[in-house]
Amino acid sequence: MKNFTFQNTTKLIFGRGTIAKLPQEIPAGAKLMVTFGGGSVKKNGVYDQMTQALAGREFIEFWGIEPNPRVETLRRAINLGKEQGVDYLLAVGGGSVADATKLIASSIRNAADPWDIVLNGNLLGEMLPMGTVMTLPATGSEMNSGAVISNDATGEKFAFYSQNPQFSILDPETTFSLPDEQIAYGICDTFVHVMEQYMTTAGQSPLMDRWAEGVLLTLIETAPKIHANKHDYNAMADYMLAATMGLNGFIALGVSQDWATHMIGHELTALEGISHGQTLAIILPALLQVMKAQKLDKLVQYGERVWGIVDGTKAERADFAIARTEEFFRSLGLATRLCELNVGSETIDEIVHRFTTRGTVLGEGRNIDAKKVAEILRLCRA
Ligand code: NZQ
Ligand code: ZN
Repeated sequence: MKNFTFQNTTKLIFGRGTIAKLPQEIPAGAKLMVTFGGGSVKKNGVYDQMTQALAGREFIEFWGIEPNPRVETLRRAINLGKEQGVDYLLAVGGGSVADATKLIASSIRNAADPWDIVLNGNLLGEMLPMGTVMTLPATGSEMNSGAVISNDATGEKFAFYSQNPQFSILDPETTFSLPDEQIAYGICDTFVHVMEQYMTTAGQSPLMDRWAEGVLLTLIETAPKIHANKHDYNAMADYMLAATMGLNGFIALGVSQDWATHMIGHELTALEGISHGQTLAIILPALLQVMKAQKLDKLVQYGERVWGIVDGTKAERADFAIARTEEFFRSLGLATRLCELNVGSETIDEIVHRFTTRGTVLGEGRNIDAKKVAEILRLCRA
């Protein structure tokens, strides 16, 4: 196990009716800005619960944060926050609203342009305190410091890291209104977050391995229950907590991480507008195939403990494990090949060009370079 320092400062408030606890978490005199997406919270009653909870408090609202939030939209929110002297933020919605709010909170007291803040962590100054009411289990943004921001003008999408929300309220009933495809993306995103922290070098920490395998097995067991009835409170609660636990640092203590699937996936979203979870379902199986030799022991362990694969040579067992992973994504209703989404070779060439220019090397072995990215993308096009 490697050395590590771990601190997660987010207070998690979980369960039915917990939006009512908002006033206990937001200081009474705060100059509050509440941020939202495109309106789902008005249809599913979350907005009403929030306004009831904050009755008697003054706050300003910022609407219209889109999926894969664009810096162009956020500049408007930041200017409003500056004008109004905002000193506390509350994000109400999915990961995009939470991520966007991290950038807004990092920019209101900062003279730097928000895109420069995304690109250069040294420009980060004081982040205003923020909380979230999370309505979409997927990103873990409710309990981590990460945020992923898109730039329309440059066609880019990058992550930056600021601070955790002070608190996050997760009421599984708020997820009952999610469209089927968002549930599929969210389960896949959570699964791949865990895989990116687990599917590396075997034998680093039995504790982290078991913890990660526990989250993966929970998702595999829960997905059909949600498919049968998305108003199944306990199934949604397990999925929601799995998403938080999948990316709040708890399964990554002292072990190496990969994240190449995410980095390549972000390019597909930036260039083709493909939803985040969908990009991962396409990239991960191909990446595992291309990196099979390096990840062989872990693939065999994963195959046995998660999918019950015990027969065959090591190489065969790894192949079965990859095939089962792809089948799982397909069982969620997701595409697993680029050709299904009509993504052509020009897009692949552009992604490879970007990795070549940036000189980025990815993966736990820092050996997924532009050439390997090309191999992975060509394999998932087939
Ligand atoms: O905008 P509204 O109207 O609210 O609708 C949203 C949006 O259209 C809708 N939605 C959310 N909750 C709902 C709901 N519809 C009905 N009922 C509900 N309860 O779902 C749509 C998608 O929302 P979005 O927030 O974009 O989805 P998600 O939570 O998957 O977030 C995706 C973004 O997070 C980034 C992704 O790259 C992408 O930009 N990520 C953030 C990470 C992090 N902060 O650590 C890590 C992830 O790997 C990921 O990269
Ligand atoms: Zn993700």
